Amino acid sequence: MLKPAPRPAATPAVEFIDLAARDESFEEAFLAGMSRRDKAVPCRFLYDARGSALFDEICTLPEYYPTRTETRLLKARAGEIAAAAGPHAALVELGSGSSVKTRILLDRLDRPGAYMPVDVSRQHLRAAAARIAADYPGLRVVALCADYAAPFDLPHTEGRRIGFFPGSTIGNLSRAEAKALLGAWRVRLGPGGLMLVGVDLKKNPAMLEAAYDDAAGVTEAFIKNILARANAELRGDFDLARFDYEARWNPEAGRVEMHLVARGAQRARAGGRVFSFADGERIHVENSHKYGLEEFAALARAAGFSSKARYTDEGRLFSLHLLEA
Ligand SMILES: C[S@@+](CC[C@H](N)C(=O)[O-])C[C@H]1O[C@@H](n2cnc3c(N)ncnc32)[C@H](O)[C@@H]1O
Repeated sequence: MLKPAPRPAATPAVEFIDLAARDESFEEAFLAGMSRRDKAVPCRFLYDARGSALFDEICTLPEYYPTRTETRLLKARAGEIAAAAGPHAALVELGSGSSVKTRILLDRLDRPGAYMPVDVSRQHLRAAAARIAADYPGLRVVALCADYAAPFDLPHTEGRRIGFFPGSTIGNLSRAEAKALLGAWRVRLGPGGLMLVGVDLKKNPAMLEAAYDDAAGVTEAFIKNILARANAELRGDFDLARFDYEARWNPEAGRVEMHLVARGAQRARAGGRVFSFADGERIHVENSHKYGLEEFAALARAAGFSSKARYTDEGRLFSLHLLEA
């Protein structure tokens, strides 16, 4: 007799809250940025589905030390972090991407009350949240497609809230923006809330520049994705081969700056507009600010957090800051 086929397990539901649509659109931001005297595009628009996939590839590159260093730190310290969070904590992740580092914390947290990933990359967020829900049965997963710098309310949850902002993503913000963002999240996390931030440290410029300009050209493809996205979504005709990629350490500003540089004078169309480029004209696409250990702790204090612990690796490449609201 034939045995009945096993019933496929029901796909666990993810609550999906879409707030990004009410935020500034790619079209508005791109056209405004290209109309400036110093052309620039906000880096959050790098992350469409292809941008998120390219970022995942960057994380595996030999030059890109942040991912592996932060992962090692998290594995070594997850027990202490989970003890500080206590039982039933709700984990809220800013810029959650593929939610990979998240698992290190979820594996150690004591009966976590909820996982709430916040990311602008809609499709990628949906898929990553579904994988977490499938792998952690019984965990409430609420995905928020939103700009983490925009004002919004978190869904109600029991227990302490712990914000998790890994990947040195905070480095994409200026120091003033980082302080304002931490201040807003201190309020949003509520009294007793914790915030765990991954912060890349200042170091030898050659190592920093290599991390953002890898030999395989993946970071170049990631940065050029902003023009590919304009071609696809805004009926653009940028010729990606006529832009060079440049990643430079700026010691005064304490950041790596990523630009696209026009090779030859040219014009390109997007969103029904025509943009002219002089030979060598730049589009500023992304910054990655680097900190000293004490410098970041002082910034977090200025945002109203107290520093509960800070962890770094032997080579002092990367740091994790555990902050308390
Ligand atoms: C540098 S990646 C880090 C990904 C992952 N957290 C990690 O550590 O590997 C930045 C992530 O933040 C998201 N992101 C960038 N700017 C954002 C914004 N303003 N609001 C929400 N998400 C944002 C991107 O879509 C991307 O998934």
